[in-house]
Formats: sequence, structure tokens, C-alpha cells
Amino acid sequence: MSQVTSIENTVEKNSKEKYLSDYQVSNYEIDSIDLEFELYDTTTLVKAVSSVIRVGEHQQPLFLFGEQLQLKKLLVNGVNHPDYKLVKGGLELSYLPQTFTLEIHTEINPQANTSFSGLYKSGGAFCTQCEAEGFRRITYYLDRPDVMAKFTTKISADKDLYPFLLSNGNPVDQGDLDNGRHWVSWSDPFPKPAYLFALVGGDFDCLKDTFTTKSGREVALELFVDKGNLDKTAHAMISLKKAMLWDEQRFNFEYDLDIYMIVAVDFFNMGAMENKGLNIFNSKFVLANAQSATDQDFLGIEAVIGHEYFHNWTGNRITCRDWFQLSLKEGLTVFRDQEFSSDLGSRSVNRIANVKTMRNHQFAEDAGPMSHPIRPASVMEMNNFYTLTVYEKGSEVIRMLHTLLGEKAFQQGMELYVARHDGQAVTCDDFIAAMQDASKIDLTLFKRWYSQSGTPNVHVSDHFDLSKNCYQMTFKQKTQPTADQKIKQALHIPIAIELLDKQGNALKLADNKTNTILSLTHTEQTFVFQNISEKPVPSLFRGFSAPVKYQYAYSDLQLLHLMNFASDEFSRWDAGQTLFNKYLALNVQRLQDKQEMKLPALFIEGFKGVLVSELLDPALIANMFEFISETGAMELFDRVDIEALHRAREFMLSQLAMALHSEFVTVYHARQVAGEYLAITADIADRQLANLALLFIAKADPALGNELVVKQIAHCNNMTDHLAGLVAANSASLACRETVMQDFEEKWFENGLVMDKWFVIQASQDRSDVLDNVKALFKHRSFDFNNPNRLRSLVGAFAQNNPYHFHAEDGSGYHFLTEQLIKLNKQNPQVAARLITPLIQFKRLDENRKNLIKKQLNRLLQLDDLALDLYEKVSKALKQ
Ligand code: TRP
Ligand code: ZN
Repeated sequence: MSQVTSIENTVEKNSKEKYLSDYQVSNYEIDSIDLEFELYDTTTLVKAVSSVIRVGEHQQPLFLFGEQLQLKKLLVNGVNHPDYKLVKGGLELSYLPQTFTLEIHTEINPQANTSFSGLYKSGGAFCTQCEAEGFRRITYYLDRPDVMAKFTTKISADKDLYPFLLSNGNPVDQGDLDNGRHWVSWSDPFPKPAYLFALVGGDFDCLKDTFTTKSGREVALELFVDKGNLDKTAHAMISLKKAMLWDEQRFNFEYDLDIYMIVAVDFFNMGAMENKGLNIFNSKFVLANAQSATDQDFLGIEAVIGHEYFHNWTGNRITCRDWFQLSLKEGLTVFRDQEFSSDLGSRSVNRIANVKTMRNHQFAEDAGPMSHPIRPASVMEMNNFYTLTVYEKGSEVIRMLHTLLGEKAFQQGMELYVARHDGQAVTCDDFIAAMQDASKIDLTLFKRWYSQSGTPNVHVSDHFDLSKNCYQMTFKQKTQPTADQKIKQALHIPIAIELLDKQGNALKLADNKTNTILSLTHTEQTFVFQNISEKPVPSLFRGFSAPVKYQYAYSDLQLLHLMNFASDEFSRWDAGQTLFNKYLALNVQRLQDKQEMKLPALFIEGFKGVLVSELLDPALIANMFEFISETGAMELFDRVDIEALHRAREFMLSQLAMALHSEFVTVYHARQVAGEYLAITADIADRQLANLALLFIAKADPALGNELVVKQIAHCNNMTDHLAGLVAANSASLACRETVMQDFEEKWFENGLVMDKWFVIQASQDRSDVLDNVKALFKHRSFDFNNPNRLRSLVGAFAQNNPYHFHAEDGSGYHFLTEQLIKLNKQNPQVAARLITPLIQFKRLDENRKNLIKKQLNRLLQLDDLALDLYEKVSKALKQ
């Protein structure tokens, strides 16, 4: 097995791309940097004093990255150093001593920074975002993750406007200055790469708490939010304390500084950032109370608070050697946050949610023009690689390791990884080596998951021999060529299985267990099971044991059998999804053949059994009725018929709604949650099922739906039920729709985060004038084109969640999105490059739509100042 050959995929080098294979260690090191900031809106002064060491014997210049900086002064060992050149993307210094103190003064303009990378202003506050390559917008520096230095930071600012001045590490000192200014200094004892640097200056409300670590140290916890928001901070703080405890219990990781701070800001490109000791969060992932946030918001906050906290060990103490290794910290940390949510809440429900993300979004990315392995081999703009592939598929790869090793050996691997690499910047290979050495399991072939892109397809067939009591399963794996990589090889695919008999009991397999993990390591492999006395129904890829697509010729009855009897809840859900997708494809075909659509009684009966079950977790029941999204379903076809897909999916949902109407009504009433709102697993499950029922009731019986929605909105004590009312009213165009939407707007128009939910509903409407409505909403009093959350809610939701109207035949959706991208190109290219996704994943569309899209992409390509973020995606899309 250790003879794994590597087939070279021919790489034509492109001047705009950076390649993993070109990695070289830095020719200079920096072991400490003392920063001083004088904060002013338009002219902030940054003084950086670094101690620099030449690595080895050489005469090469020192190249320091820098962007949008004004160089004011440059001293080497305290004297002017004329041997420097300002070059594209930075500064080149020559004739340097072996070791020296480098003092650089730069001036920057935070107010003018609309890209939210580097130092910028969010509302009234100064804040920073340095990952991946934002520190170079603060000062000239060796801005690469393998250069790790000890940081101190001194900040001065107006005391009234910016009473809080924060940075990484522990506070050291503070004092007052003339002119109403003051200063604070911080010191971070842990060497870190520049991307983990953070600074915040502002006026906040602060929630304080403490956590005592397992070794008895007391850590101060401080959560900073815009003034007036203290009533929305409790959940985030509770989540943080849960995360700290969980990481000690499950991973034996203890926090290492005396203080942990979180600052919530309204203007942020992503979810949150794990800066050492000073996390900066999109306020969406902090602020929540019963009135303003849904159950899903509560769960999302818990997960993201956990995620950023968990980075302290997986990311900060041990970081990435280079950005190609991003999944080293992200895949692993997503795995950890998923486990955190699963241990605290429902494991199956979390698993289903994660798999939905893979199927609805990651598979499309892997099949599209931006396809890349979880460890990309080349990158133009690093910001484009904070992807579902690196994060979510990266987590699936860690999960497969966990499946192959088991919890105990996996934890031993983690321990060895930390013992070897604490304080270092390392590679994915280093991580795998620790896992392999600790477990003694050969991971040579497994490692291919890091270098091969694309979603493998696993074809499963079987044969039962009654005379020999023998059951055989044959697995064939194949990965289609992807945009980035033509040649694909076999991967190590763990397949968790269970075999069910006619009564629904799981058969005993080897060593008396009722389930097992098969290791598929070849293109084709057959597994033989002895002492099997009847032809079983196989439950395959239990728990989604590998991020693959798979096919087995299940009959409808076999799928129903799995829905009823699979011991793994995920597998029950998965069987329901498979059954739904089967009839979705069939009905699309029937529409295309001008035949009537149909849904067999057996389908309805199967789902009826699920709906009325007294035994199943209500959250699982609700999930069983949440089918693949229209966007996700596009991946099920080689050629998508947008119209037919939409109609077939709607047909199936309304058939279920009509056939199970009385059951939905019963369930709706049975699952009402009484009393005070609590975001606890059991109540969340009941609300989810009741609101799912409401949606189906509204579809089949608008009069009753209307009555229930109006009542629910009038009497509910929480945002989950209020919003569910709006969603039902909109999706079934209920009579109350305009009124409930307007009332909501009047109640919440000052709260942008809440209005995001309202914008999403507006943008997701199934009506022919939805685009005109979206355009009109740009003038809405709660909309702000400069706020990424608002943009994603209105523009993003329309393009991503409303495929039927976004892909309108006249190309109006494409034209509209392109107009927004042109505006954003200069202002915030990172956000632009995220919003473009539905415009580049077009290979399954018809020729007409493809041409309309290409026309828009060419418009972008012709911009003379097209940002690299967009250029990378547009050029790759057009090359398809
Ligand atoms: N490291 C962050 C996380 O995973 C991601 C992140 C936050 C980010 N802000 C960013 C990445 C800006 C790129 C640019 O939690
Ligand atoms: Zn992360």
C-alpha cells in the first residue's frame, strides 16, 4: 500500500498564479515587532520597529509586502537607509547587516478603506482584518504565515470617541495624553504570523465574565458590542464558556492568555476572525435574543464562537506554513466546531445540515471552474480560497480520518501533532504524519484527498448467493476530470455500512458487530460477506462516511425500508432524499416529454409514516421534509432544464402538502412550544417541525394557512416563529403577506441584522417581478450597499437562492448581478468575488443561458481595473 504513485498533472504556469511547488523558506526572519498606532480617521500613523535576522549566508535583498501605504520614514539600526526601492506590491531593501532593527513609519487612511481588509472603520470604530494578506495594508512587512514574531502594540486615540483601545495578548499599560487623547499598550507573548494581528478602537458596551481553566487559571472574558446591544450578548458569552470547557474535555486544550476578547462589528466581509486573544466578529454571529434572532441564528452563533475559539490551538499556536495549507487550520477547525455542536445538540441534525451544505453547494464548486483540492496547488488571489472546499470538504477529510482511526487514536494523533509542532508554521503533510505515527495506520494513499479535486462517484452493485449464504458488494470509484486537473486517481474511501434484513434488523457482520467500515482503496473492489441468509438491503455511506456521490439501484421499497429501519438517523434521512431525487428526475423527464407528472402512493405513504411517527426526533422529521434545494438539484442533471426543475420540485411539494394535509395540521398543533423562549435542542426541534408543517399547510390550504400565520405572528414570543410566519405567507402568497411584511418592516427597520431576514424573503420570492422589487429595495431605508451583510441578503439571496428567477431567460438576472459586481469591483472585491458564484457555475445550463452569462463575464473582463479576485474567477469561468 505504501507504493502510491503520483501521476503528474501537467501544469502550464501562468504569470498571475502562485504555485505551492514554488514555496521557499523566507530569507529573513523577524522575531519581534513593536507597533505604535496614532489613530486618526484619514491619517493614521503606524510606526513599526522590528528586529530582523538574515537567514543563512546570502546577499539577497529583503522584500517587504506593502499595499496602499505611504512610506514616511525608514531607518536601519536607527539611521536613514537609502538603499531601498518601492516596487509593485512592496518595498525592497538592500545592503543590510546580518541582524538589525528596522523602523518603518507609514501613513494610512482607514476612513477610505472600503474593502474591509487592513485597518478600516466599521461604524464609529477602528478595526482590522489581516487574514489572509491584510497586514501589508498596515505596514511594510514579511506578511506570510511562516514568519512568526512577538508583537507589542501601543495605540493612541481620542479618549471620548475611542475609550477602548484593544490589541492582542495581555494589557500592559495605559495613560492620558494632551488634546483629549489617551493610549494603551498590549503585549502578546506568543509568536504569531501577521495575519493574526488585530487592533480595535472604539466605544462599546462590554459584557464581562470569567472562565477558570482546568489548571485553575482565571481568564477574563470580555465581549464588546455597539452601545445599546447588551441585551443581545448573553448567548454569545454562554457559547464561549461552553466552547472553552468542551475543548478541555474533548481535546485536552486549555486557553493560554489571561484575557479573551470578542468585538462585534457591523461591517465585516466574513463570519469572524480568530486574531490571538482578540476575535473580531461579524455582529451577525454575536447578537441574539429571543425577539431578534432565530433558533438557527442561536445555533450559528454557538458554532462560530466555538470555531474561532478552537482556532487558538488549531491555527494560532500551530499555524500554516503557507496559504496553500489553509485547510490545515480550517478543515480541522470546522471539524472541531461541528463536533462541538454535535456534542452539545443533536448529532444527526448537525450531520444532516453539514451534508446539505456539501450537496447543495460544495459539489457544485468542485464541478465548476474554480474546482481545487482542499490543498490548492495554485492560487491567484488567496481570498478566493476561503471556500466550501477548503472548509467543509476539508472537514469531511478530517472526519474520514477520524472514522478510520477512531476517537482514541485520533486524539493520540492530535496530541502528537501538538507535541511536535506547537509554536510552528506547518503543512498538511505534517498533520497527516502525526496522525499516521500515532495510529500506525498507513495514510499514504489517504493523503491523496489533499491533492485531488472533484467529487468521486462510487457505483455500488451486489450479488446474493442463497446456496452459499454469501453476499458480495462491488464498489467502483471514478472521479470526473475537473477544470484544474484532468487525470484522477483512486482515493482511499471509507464506506460505513449496515445490512438490513426483511424485518429491518441489522445483520451480524464480522466480529459480531452490526456495522462496519469498508476501505475502498482501488478503482474497483469486491467485499464478501459470509453467513448471510437472505438478500439484505444495504445501508451505504452511513453518516456520510465520505464526501462522494454514490449510486446503488435501490427500489422504492428498499428506500422506504431504509427510511424506516436504518439504525443511523442520517441514513434514514438520506434514503428519503434519494427517493425524492429519483422522482424529481423522473418528473423533469415527464415534463420534457409533455407527460403528466406523478408521485406514487407509496412515496406519499412512506413520508406519511415519517410525519406521524411518535418515535422519531421531531427535528429529524422536519429534516426529512426539507429536500434538496433548487440550486443543489442542478447538480443532479448533466443538462439542467431550469423551468422543468422548478415546476417538478413545486409539484412534488404540493402533492405532499395536499396528500398529508390533515397530518400536517395535527403535527402543527401538537408541536407548539409553550412558555418562555429557550434556544434548547428539544424546543428548537418542536418549533422546526411545527413551522415546517405550517409551510406545507399554507401550500395546500391557503385559507387555513393564512389564519394560522396571522395568529402565530400575533401571539409568538420569538423571532423563529415570527419569521416562519413570514416565510409561509410569502411562499404560498397568502392574503396576509403584504400586511405581515409591512408590520415587520415597521417594527424592525432600524435593526439591520433583523432586516436581513426580511431582505432575504423579498429576494427569494417566486413572482415574475421579483427582480424589479429587489432593485427598488436598494432605496429602502434599511438597505446599505456598503454593508456586506445587507448585500448578501438582497443581492446574494436573489442570485443564489432564487435560481428560477435569477436564470430568467432574458438574462435580466445576469445583467443585474454584473451591474452590482462592476460597482463592487473597486469598492470591495472580496465580497464581489463571493457574490459572483452563481454566474460562473454555468456548465449545466442550456446554450442560450450560457451565452447570456458569457456576455456578462466578458463585460467584466473588459474592465480596465478588474480586481484580481474577480479576474481569477471570470477568466477561469470563460475558459471552460
Ligand atoms: N479565519 C477566519 C475563519 O475561518 C476566516 C476569515 C475571517 C477571513 N475574515 C476573513 C478570511 C477575511 C479571509 C478574509 O474564521
Ligand atoms: Zn476558521
